[in-house]
Amino acid sequence: MRPLSFHIETFGCQMNDRDSEIMTQLLAEFCRPAPGLLEADIVMINTCSIRQKAEQKAFSLLGTLKQLKKRRPEMIIGVAGCVAQQEGAKLLARLPYVDLVLGTQNIYKLPELIAEIKSSRRRQTAVSQSADFEIPPYLPDLRRGPAYKRFVTIMQGCNNFCTYCVVPYTRGREVSRKMTDILAEIRHLTSHGVKEITLLGQNVNSYGHDLSRQVDFSTLLRETAAVEGLKRLRFTTSNPKDLNDDLIQCFAELDILCPHFHLPVQSGSNNVLKRMNRHYTIEHYRDRVAALRAARPDIALTTDIIIGFPGETEEDFQATMDLVREIRYHGAYSFKYSDRPQARSAAFGDKVSEVVKSERLSILQEEINRIAAERNKEYVGQVQEVMVEGKSRHSPGQWSGRAAANHIVNFTGNKSLRPGDLVDIMITEACLHSLRGQYD
Ligand code: SAH
Ligand code: SF4
Ligand code: F3S
Repeated sequence: MRPLSFHIETFGCQMNDRDSEIMTQLLAEFCRPAPGLLEADIVMINTCSIRQKAEQKAFSLLGTLKQLKKRRPEMIIGVAGCVAQQEGAKLLARLPYVDLVLGTQNIYKLPELIAEIKSSRRRQTAVSQSADFEIPPYLPDLRRGPAYKRFVTIMQGCNNFCTYCVVPYTRGREVSRKMTDILAEIRHLTSHGVKEITLLGQNVNSYGHDLSRQVDFSTLLRETAAVEGLKRLRFTTSNPKDLNDDLIQCFAELDILCPHFHLPVQSGSNNVLKRMNRHYTIEHYRDRVAALRAARPDIALTTDIIIGFPGETEEDFQATMDLVREIRYHGAYSFKYSDRPQARSAAFGDKVSEVVKSERLSILQEEINRIAAERNKEYVGQVQEVMVEGKSRHSPGQWSGRAAANHIVNFTGNKSLRPGDLVDIMITEACLHSLRGQYD
């Protein structure tokens, strides 16, 4: 019998990317990768629920799969990720062609659930969540995925309960991985040639608080930075309320820690921050930014902003615009507020209309882009160390890579290069979302 083939479609954040890598590795033990979704015997959709639009994307792909399954009834369709966790067994009732609903703490059960579906043809739901959940030690397979940079999960879930956010429900309570497991995974990666690691968690600053042997995020950063062979270290994401001096000190101390900090602010108005349950003020945020810049003057700051949170006034919006002009971010993601099931703000009154949200978003994005373009120009004439990613997809004959501050750098040069090589590039031009340069 020919082995089954599989395909995984991934939406959402890096947590989902990493979970999809793990599911790929688990399935590859008894299946082969299909050339594409249309040919696969098993299709997993790893979903995101952060905004309504993200959820819709998953449902619209599932609609396509429904048609496909009419022609190939033996096909197995699974839904994983945050929509699966949120909806649970309801998804099976709503989508009769779906065979498997796989919650965010259950991905390791994927092989046994597929075997069960194959043998019994019974549909399966695995969405249990537990405060005692432990992220199993599971070494990544380096034959798949990039050979030079990887994500390493250090914690799952979130305890912050920002009022707009679905993550504490879809990913459960905060669970930190044991530091020994994390370091073992990182050593495994670097011993196979990986040069860049991004530590992943929804709220990395509170890493370790739940572990019996108390460690904190700064300790983990220092231990990771000491791993032989590692050239670059990044992390995401942080909540400004937990950004302490010791972590800021790491930026002064550890050369290997890249000069980029994604520090989501969400709003420039204290009134809105309060209703968002963010537990910091704009004054605190400013102070943290100043401390980061003092510790590492070349640090590039990026952020996330939500526009049109319930009750956001024109004055609140102007406070956000003022903050953006004051901090002068190197880049920012901005989103229209979206009601989420379970999130507390869904029940807040005083909703901002779609028209006003769209207007404010476009004004904000224009300003973000204008500032980012100015920021990028500051790099022209400087030499930046770039990690080569490969040939540029957009500009034939050029190479593409990333600077330490996380900019994409497209560059020309005749020498032969390999992904993961670190090269010094003279920056010659700034574009909105990337830099151009020359290597000789
Ligand atoms: N853990 C990260 C955030 C993950 S979600 C942190 O705390 O920073 C990524 C971003 O999506 C958030 O920073 C926020 O800007 C946005 N977001 C989350 N829920 C949203 C909602 N209901 N509507 C609009 N944007 C939202
Ligand atoms: Fe969501 Fe807030 Fe947790 Fe980030 S810190 S995942 S925005 S609840
Ligand atoms: Fe989306 Fe879940 Fe990540 S909601 S942003 S995939 S944690």
